[in-house]
Amino acid sequence: MRTTGQNLNIVIDNLRVSYTDLGSDNRQVIIFIHGFPFNKTMWNDQLEALKENYRVIAYDIRGFGSSNPGQSDFTIDLFADDLINLMDALKIKKAIVCGLSMGGYIALNAIGRYPKRFEALVLSDTTCMPDTPEIKAKRLLAIENVMEKGVENYAEASLKNFFAIESFTQKQEEIGLVKTMILNTPKTSICKALIAMCDRNETESILPEIKVPVHVMVGEQDTITPLASAQFMNLRIKNSSLSIITQAGHLANIDNPTEFNDQLRKFADWFVQSSLDFKMDEAYLTKD
Ligand code: MLT
Repeated sequence: MRTTGQNLNIVIDNLRVSYTDLGSDNRQVIIFIHGFPFNKTMWNDQLEALKENYRVIAYDIRGFGSSNPGQSDFTIDLFADDLINLMDALKIKKAIVCGLSMGGYIALNAIGRYPKRFEALVLSDTTCMPDTPEIKAKRLLAIENVMEKGVENYAEASLKNFFAIESFTQKQEEIGLVKTMILNTPKTSICKALIAMCDRNETESILPEIKVPVHVMVGEQDTITPLASAQFMNLRIKNSSLSIITQAGHLANIDNPTEFNDQLRKFADWFVQSSLDFKMDEAYLTKD
């Protein structure tokens, strides 16, 4: 029997995973994967907006939010395996998966290795490219800083990259919530995830192989994974569409949730409707 609610726990291979599961049983499932260094609550607005018509699940990646870190080093492969293990544990064969930034790295890794588990994909403010040497160097410096000066310092330095310019005067509450998410992330998880991102492989080569519909989204002022990254993926993925979220930076879903949710809903509604049409055509063609 399915359990619904916020902050649920499930133990998978000795790892406690915290997740929120809302909406009706028989609806299309959408699974949300958060970015770095945040947690599942970054999707609160989306869960609220879509729960009436969808089964929506957001979970804490290992080491973030309320999920245990486990014993091993972090890798994007491991995070992608965790996604599939969670789907297995929740008895979800296939889903629409929506990942933002590091969540997108995980989703792209997973669709390359487990294509059958995806019905559609939403890639928000992310990239298929591996880290450049400059980004790797910055991550290593960030690890040193976190270890020496602590997470508070890291939070202050990184917050300025996450929002649109105008949000710094207009969205104090949202910025405060993101800061709290960062401050609540253990030092070790921050460092282990920085290494995982440094070491991740490119996923550009899998883009032409993706068979399911993909919607790419990007905040117009995203400076971490900018518009060009989104346009590149949109060009390479056959069955894909792109929306640019206005007045939004890297955390487009928090910066402009109204526009983000509208675009996400439009894509998910279109996907559900076209699957229904397809099933009806199939039924018509196979009837005696
Ligand atoms: C994120 O939001 O997940 C990070 O900006 C990803 C990254 O540092 O590459």
